[in-house]
Amino acid sequence: MKKIDKYFDANKKLWNERVNIHFESEFYDNKKFIKTKNSLNSIELEELGNIKNKSILHLQCHFGQDTISLANLGAKVTGIDFSENAIEKAKELSNIVNIKADFICSNIYDLKKSLNRKFDIVFTSYGTIGWLPDINNWAEIVSYFLKRNGKFIIAEFHPYIWMFSNNFKEIKYSYFHTSAPIKEVIKGTYADRNSDVKLVEYGWNHSLSDVINSLISHGLKIESLKEFPYSPYNCFSNLIESKKGKFVFKDFPNLIPMVYSLKAKKI
Ligand SMILES: C[S@@+](CC[C@H](N)C(=O)[O-])C[C@H]1O[C@@H](n2cnc3c(N)ncnc32)[C@H](O)[C@@H]1O
Repeated sequence: MKKIDKYFDANKKLWNERVNIHFESEFYDNKKFIKTKNSLNSIELEELGNIKNKSILHLQCHFGQDTISLANLGAKVTGIDFSENAIEKAKELSNIVNIKADFICSNIYDLKKSLNRKFDIVFTSYGTIGWLPDINNWAEIVSYFLKRNGKFIIAEFHPYIWMFSNNFKEIKYSYFHTSAPIKEVIKGTYADRNSDVKLVEYGWNHSLSDVINSLISHGLKIESLKEFPYSPYNCFSNLIESKKGKFVFKDFPNLIPMVYSLKAKKI
């Protein structure tokens, strides 16, 4: 078995274990979601604009809340994720709210084997590219699935915050990409810290310049890049809510970039 497959297998196991916990969690609050049919934040909504009748490929869709939210805004959406449990739950949620979306179970790097059409928009958000070892290959895939003049939109945690240890008290990891993964054994999950799951995960940091240059080198023109000093999610240790829906680190509130959004056009 190739080393990279070992990393993917471990990560897939972790995500498969997390799905049911997340589906039932207060963090993802499915009861509220079933009423509102929206899990998208103002950061990405602003970049998406009017998506009525647009075709959207949603990469790493987890159990589909954002995919379904995009469909509820009138888009024709295909969500993909490599976790079988996530895709199963996404289909279940789509049936519960009676909003149609397509879901494909695939590793992002193998997606061309099961999908062969182009989209108006490729979208991905919050906690996705850190699971991917090769950002250049990722950018090639983003570009491949976009129509000419199509838009790529990402809202993602800022690479700066992935430098910190799990308790966000000290700098532990490089800002820059390293081919060897960051290995951590994680107890609980960001959505339920007390859950009884303890598994190994492998991740990779991608600097902003790596993300931007990989997209440029695959034919995308960057249209906007924004950085935010807060997270829309209470998903790390030692956060406080500075304003409604804006979470900052207790020890350095509003001092560091926590999230970025980027919009690019396929030329
Ligand atoms: C943090 S979640 C998705 C974020 C989304 N904003 C959410 O909260 O619903 C990350 C997702 O990436 C998926 N994933 C990780 N590595 C992947 C890969 N190589 N190919 C496809 N999906 C992957 C996981 O299964 C998981 O569902």
